[in-house]
Amino acid sequence: MPHKQALLTGATGFVASHLLPALLADGWSVRACGRRPRPDWFPQEVDYRSVDLARPEGLDALYEGVTHLFHLAGASSSTSTDEEMHRGNVVATRNLLAAAPATLARVVHMSSTSVYGEEVQLPVPVPEDVQPHPSRGYGKAKWEAEQEMWAKAEAGMAVVVLRPVSTFGPGNVKLLGSAVLDTAIEAWAGLATLAVAARPVEQRLVHIDDLVGASLHLAEHEEAVGHAYNVVAEQYPSSHDVARILAGAFGMEVELDDQADCGLAYEDRAAIHAQMLEHGMAPHIFLTEQRFRFMAKENRNNRLRVDALLGTGFRFAHSDLEPAIQTTIDWYREHRWVITR
Ligand SMILES: NC(=O)c1ccc[n+]([C@@H]2O[C@H](COP(=O)([O-])OP(=O)(O)OC[C@H]3O[C@@H](n4cnc5c(N)ncnc54)[C@H](OP(=O)(O)O)[C@@H]3O)[C@@H](O)[C@H]2O)c1
Repeated sequence: MPHKQALLTGATGFVASHLLPALLADGWSVRACGRRPRPDWFPQEVDYRSVDLARPEGLDALYEGVTHLFHLAGASSSTSTDEEMHRGNVVATRNLLAAAPATLARVVHMSSTSVYGEEVQLPVPVPEDVQPHPSRGYGKAKWEAEQEMWAKAEAGMAVVVLRPVSTFGPGNVKLLGSAVLDTAIEAWAGLATLAVAARPVEQRLVHIDDLVGASLHLAEHEEAVGHAYNVVAEQYPSSHDVARILAGAFGMEVELDDQADCGLAYEDRAAIHAQMLEHGMAPHIFLTEQRFRFMAKENRNNRLRVDALLGTGFRFAHSDLEPAIQTTIDWYREHRWVITR
């Protein structure tokens, strides 16, 4: 096998915490970078560099010996302002690409389906070659970062773009992770029912193992160069389906409520959350001000085409979302990222 050396950006983030071990298991050498100091869990063979990609100085040193770039660094709306999202996605991508050598065998760029937006009706299921109309700061920043990639692709760089939806699995601290925390809080408070807005909202999710699998597959698939790929499980559960899985895992029943903002108020949830932390719960999952925030957003462009990805021979390992969500909740419990009485 020819020597494969990856440069993995965003290495301290959720997706990379799964992609990094998968690369090592697959025989890659890995240079990894994030902004924070080297995380303790990184295997010794990983060459870690702490670097802010929004600053252009010295980035060419990252590429020494590198054959493939996996560009995962990015700032999302859960933790960043619009300005930080522009800096962490657009400026960082521009700088990283400006320093890239022409010899790279492949650039795998982690974009997002948020580029499509939800204000303008697109053909549904949304194909990858549609003109995106991002609606919010995050989608706009991801689309602008993608365009930095496409400009390099025009100039001959071997670029592949992945556009995943909300990704869940062990170690996820946002989105579905926050909804698991919301449920654990109400179970801790002794509620027997989990109130959910009666109006169902269709969800779209993908398990982290499938995103990692797609990234490794597309890094080497010969015909993938120059293309973007939606990455989403083929099953689209409703908010009620997801709520039933969450409630079931905590011994609760779902109760449909006419109020969109049903359930405990933020102040009460924050107070119970503080109690849970005092009882030894790990503080990693984000407590969102809006309860079940990720399940509330309706999107007219929710359904996405995945035939391009399937056409490359990739197959999803977690198409059945219920057991995948259940084992993720088990993981949170085992690691005390959520606790029960
Ligand atoms: N998770 C999802 O559901 C999802 C869905 C669709 C697309 N995506 C995309 O997938 C990628 C990875 O997502 P994730 O969930 O793993 O994100 P994450 O957990 O928020 O991690 C973000 C990573 O980017 C790094 N970063 C941010 N700004 C940087 C900068 N200026 N310079 C250098 N590094 C910077 C962070 O470094 P430090 O933490 O060390 O500062 C961290 O390693 C992102 O591009 C995201 O937009 C994620």
